[in-house]
Amino acid sequence: MSDFVVSIKNLSVFRKKEEILKNINYSLKNSEFNYITGAVGSGKSSFLKVLYADIAFESGEVNVADYNLSNIKTEDIPFLRRKLGIIFQDYMMLSDRNIYDNLKFVLEISGISNNKKVKTLIFEVLEKVKLSGKEKRMPYELSGGEQQRAAIARALLNNPLLIIADEPTGNLDEESSTNFMNILFDITKTGTAVIMATHDMNLIKKFPAKVYSINNGVMK
Ligand SMILES: Nc1ncnc2c1ncn2[C@@H]1O[C@H](COP(=O)(O)OP(=O)(O)O)[C@@H](O)[C@H]1O
Ligand SMILES: [Mg+2]
Repeated sequence: MSDFVVSIKNLSVFRKKEEILKNINYSLKNSEFNYITGAVGSGKSSFLKVLYADIAFESGEVNVADYNLSNIKTEDIPFLRRKLGIIFQDYMMLSDRNIYDNLKFVLEISGISNNKKVKTLIFEVLEKVKLSGKEKRMPYELSGGEQQRAAIARALLNNPLLIIADEPTGNLDEESSTNFMNILFDITKTGTAVIMATHDMNLIKKFPAKVYSINNGVMK
């Protein structure tokens, strides 16, 4: 296992025949926290989608969690994603089941079905995000901030090397954003790297880390 969880050379991404990311070089080490900023439509989400193999790229070399995405096989993509935790702006909880069952569902997909193990893992991640005791709540019975912390819990279930968060605080008030960020920063202390897209400059000031910004397809 290398020190780098992401390493990118000369990446170029096209969408609708337009080159939206040009010749990007980027790397991220274990435990590191990086921000990706840029105007709406600048390509933040597209960049993150490349990392979790959701969109293809035109040229370049992309390595994520020891997978070479230039030639990753379709059947290997779920294994790549098991090493990642992905968090979106809208919490993406399954609305028909409680938090416990939302998390259980993720473990089942990963092939973990032993009830005792499932329970231990779920209680462990809920404690990390300060949601102990709320496992029986339905998503709509939680505040936005609590749902987003449940989304972190879900992202942590596979003990990921990297958390990818795409404007995760976009729907949260200031206090909930602060709680969310404290938890994300805590997680990096155990080796997990975080890459987070945001255009909230106040949040970046409050939680300083390396900032990359995308402008006209160029990331610096
Ligand atoms: N599904 C899609 N198909 C084609 N083009 C897209 C798609 N999603 C986004 N784009 C285009 O890619 C560019 C970057 O979008 P995006 O990565 O979503 O930016 P951001 O996350 O910074 O707002 C935009 O020009 C957008 O129109
Ligand atoms: Mg976006």
